[in-house]
Amino acid sequence: MTPAQGILVDAVLQRFGAKAVTTDPHAIAPWVTDWRGRYHGAASALLSPGSTEEVAAILALASKAGVALVPQGGNTGMVGGATPPADGSALLLSLRRLNRIRALSPENNLAVAEAGVILADLRSAAEEAGRRFPLDLGARGSATIGGLVSTNAGGTQVLRFGTMRSLVAGVEAVLPDGSIHNGLAALKKDNRGYDLTQLLVGAEGTLGVITAATLRLVPGMVARGVAWVGVASPRDALTLLRRIEAATSAVESFEILPAHTLAQVIDHVPGIRAPLDSEQPWHVLIEAVATDVASEPPAQLLERLLTPALESGLARDVVIAASEAQAEAFWRIRHSISEAERAAGPALQHDISVPVEDMPRFMIEGGAAAEARFPGTRTVAYGHLGDGNVHFHVRAPRGADAERWYAEEGATISGFVHDLVVAANGSISAEHGIGQMKRAELERLSAPSRIAAMRAIKGALDPQGILNPGKLVSLAPARSTP
Ligand code: FAD
Ligand code: LAC
Ligand code: ZN
Repeated sequence: MTPAQGILVDAVLQRFGAKAVTTDPHAIAPWVTDWRGRYHGAASALLSPGSTEEVAAILALASKAGVALVPQGGNTGMVGGATPPADGSALLLSLRRLNRIRALSPENNLAVAEAGVILADLRSAAEEAGRRFPLDLGARGSATIGGLVSTNAGGTQVLRFGTMRSLVAGVEAVLPDGSIHNGLAALKKDNRGYDLTQLLVGAEGTLGVITAATLRLVPGMVARGVAWVGVASPRDALTLLRRIEAATSAVESFEILPAHTLAQVIDHVPGIRAPLDSEQPWHVLIEAVATDVASEPPAQLLERLLTPALESGLARDVVIAASEAQAEAFWRIRHSISEAERAAGPALQHDISVPVEDMPRFMIEGGAAAEARFPGTRTVAYGHLGDGNVHFHVRAPRGADAERWYAEEGATISGFVHDLVVAANGSISAEHGIGQMKRAELERLSAPSRIAAMRAIKGALDPQGILNPGKLVSLAPARSTP
């Protein structure tokens, strides 16, 4: 621990008690490596404030002492954004104790949740009030509101409701100097210039620490229909989506995965069975939702829309969940992909988007191009086809040593994939953010004016660079590993 860190830790201990400070290396250990196990950091203390005022006091002290802090929620991020630097130059700032839902108003369709509220808990609270918080992802049992806001998370309901950005009606945050930005009021109209709230959304903890957010809720669900469909190709999957969308606005999710990924999940997760009896090259999971009793039951709606697709061959096989248990089983497959992928060994992850209509081509041609260029690798693309966003993974050749392969090939392979994405007018980060994983690539592939503007914003709000150093953008140019 540096002398400055020691002074900060002692002050926090004295003012806020033992609950607010952990220095036991065993207790800190789970929080200094990222979920995927790619990044290993070090922090001699983990600070856990219990209120917005405590966060403000800690940031004021840290700013005075020049101590760097890494904000952290559930540590489920995919780009090493919540992993502290390996040289111990920063302390962890956990927001998990700020876990109150301060208000939930079904009449106004709004909830005010503190940063440490777990996504699953907010979803349950909204459901109990007859509403829904329409953002879902596999890490819902650990990911926090602060992390979801700070990464502008996506997930499996973006097709209908947008990313976190569109669900945030206001934020409360502490800026690096310890001042509190209270932007929780959900104003429908507000033109006071720069939108600080939206600037903090997706800022990955580099501009401020989110302490609470006002979030939009949507009508509760009366019934849902969940279908599993086999298709010949991503192109057919997208054609199917367009036909369904032309007939109904009830579809909230449309997710694609290749046969290889389904097999991987079945191998990895006990008790999971293939939804279809037939072998199919590509699989699609569709969810349609009814929010009022007068609507056609969504399972019936899906059957009505999928029958002609089956007859024409656009859909090669279909099963519609006959019960909630079966619907849940289908979703369990989708939400277990990351876990199965992690267990399957080394892979370079690319979380990419291109214009939606071009994604089917990109998935096939991009996959073939990467496999041809890097013999022995295998590409896998799955995810949110309707958003033009898939997780495009390049798996290491069989038997490759993980760390060596990442070190020797990682930058070249990821550079190759990202170049294809840029050539297709896409984004190298559709939902997971930049973190430390993609910093150098962001800089390499962005217009200098964009990086200069981002750096100027960072410098204006955090001139000492004490918030989440080494992530997203910093005051000095970047070097990072893929
Ligand atoms: P952390 O991992 O702790 O932090 C993420 C970033 O936010 C870091 O930069 C951190 O510094 C910053 N941060 C955290 N809290 C705060 C705060 N209060 N104030 C300021 N900065 C803060 N992501 C998707 O978008 N879509 C998916 O479908 C998806 N599926 C996933 C499935 C699995 C199984 C897993 C493990 C992850 C998945 N993710 C997905 C990624 C991850 O869940 C999201 O990025 C999520 O938003 C991270 O939340 P967290 O609380 O774990 O944040
Ligand atoms: C998903 C995560 C990886 O879509 O974003 O499963
Ligand atoms: Zn995703």
